[in-house]
Amino acid sequence: MSVLERITSKDAIALEEKYGAQNYHPLPVVLSRGEGVYVWDVEGKKYYDFLSAYSAVNQGHCHPKIINALTSQAQNLTLTSRAFHNDMLGRYEKYVTEYFGFDKVLPMNTGAEAVETAIKLARKWGYEKKGIHANQAKIIVCQNNFHGRTVTIISASNDPVATENFGPFTPGMVSIRYNDIDALREALADGNVAAFLVEPIQGEAGVYVPDENYMKEARQLCTDKNVLFIADEVQTGIARTGRLLATCGNCSCDDKNCSGTPEVKPDVLILGKAISGGVFPVSAVLANNEIMEVIRPGNHGSTFGGNPLACAVAIAALEVVREDDLAENAYQLGKLFREEMQKLVDTTNIVRLVRGKGLLNAIVINDSEDSSTAWEICLALKENGLLAKPTHGNIIRFAPPLVMNEEQLLDCISIITKTMLQFDK
Ligand SMILES: Cc1ncc(COP(=O)(O)O)c(C=O)c1O
Repeated sequence: MSVLERITSKDAIALEEKYGAQNYHPLPVVLSRGEGVYVWDVEGKKYYDFLSAYSAVNQGHCHPKIINALTSQAQNLTLTSRAFHNDMLGRYEKYVTEYFGFDKVLPMNTGAEAVETAIKLARKWGYEKKGIHANQAKIIVCQNNFHGRTVTIISASNDPVATENFGPFTPGMVSIRYNDIDALREALADGNVAAFLVEPIQGEAGVYVPDENYMKEARQLCTDKNVLFIADEVQTGIARTGRLLATCGNCSCDDKNCSGTPEVKPDVLILGKAISGGVFPVSAVLANNEIMEVIRPGNHGSTFGGNPLACAVAIAALEVVREDDLAENAYQLGKLFREEMQKLVDTTNIVRLVRGKGLLNAIVINDSEDSSTAWEICLALKENGLLAKPTHGNIIRFAPPLVMNEEQLLDCISIITKTMLQFDK
């Protein structure tokens, strides 16, 4: 079959069902084009994208500047592996480290790979710098986390769907309650702890925003115990929460483009998704020299990590974040969104609550966790021209591209309101 041949939604879905592993349960919509905040299905119907590929397409679909960087670089050089130098890697490394305020970056591809990298880095640092005895290093993680899908990462998960029948698991993970500073203090009493790995907001779990001071206090406790504070900002990073980084939103500084003060600045920062504007798999682990220097040639790597195409795309994608002031836009529109959703909470029975930061928000549907109401609402939203997806039962995540303007957001709010009223009893 030629890729240029037109296909119907029904046929495209049938092909996926027949030939693809069934590891996802997508909404029944088949997209073939995207521009800014909009996507179109194969029949030509236009939708607002209110998921942004799980916060990867923060800069909007097919941003011309990023696509231009992709196509120009693709005509020169795409991949050298790290067996040789390439003329983009050093430039990107300088750009990204200065952008986020760290000495060094270790480039990878997917978010999960970057989390794996951070775990390896923390363990090696634990043995070589902190003096933990061989094979005793522990990583503290939080319940209901989502850090990716590899065996080591799911070893830190308590989600039965993600873990059942995938054992044996990687040892050395200690799970504590999220947003419970006393639980962290207790876990940190163990001298074998190398790192605390945490999401500043738990996105997949349902956009759980911790208490105001949690990140700041966690950062301080880690400093006191000589434990690395690792922030997984794969989903929250790159302006999504109304700040360049969500960890930064927990400090007292008022600069939305700042990458963090010592109050909450992580020792190790994990980025992915929107670092490429969702154009290409690019992820990164950032740290200062005294941590990153434990990694020596041969210790870690990836054929594609740091490839010139990724470097060109990521520089352009990060430039767009600043040039289009996406952090400020996410901050302002996020406030408006939650105010309007709160009206639905106050005046209907269908929406129980709204929570979030910037343009990473969720509403909780007033039904049991195992009900199909959230899924049915998402189907109705699709019919009404807006794409969103439930995350865990009765929670719907709302995360549009950050290039959305106020008029578009108000239009989306009226679609959501109209749809919710269809379900209000
Ligand atoms: C916080 C967080 N970490 C890691 C990942 C894994 O990223 P990837 O799917 O690119 O492996 C995700 C993906 O949703 C995420 O939200």
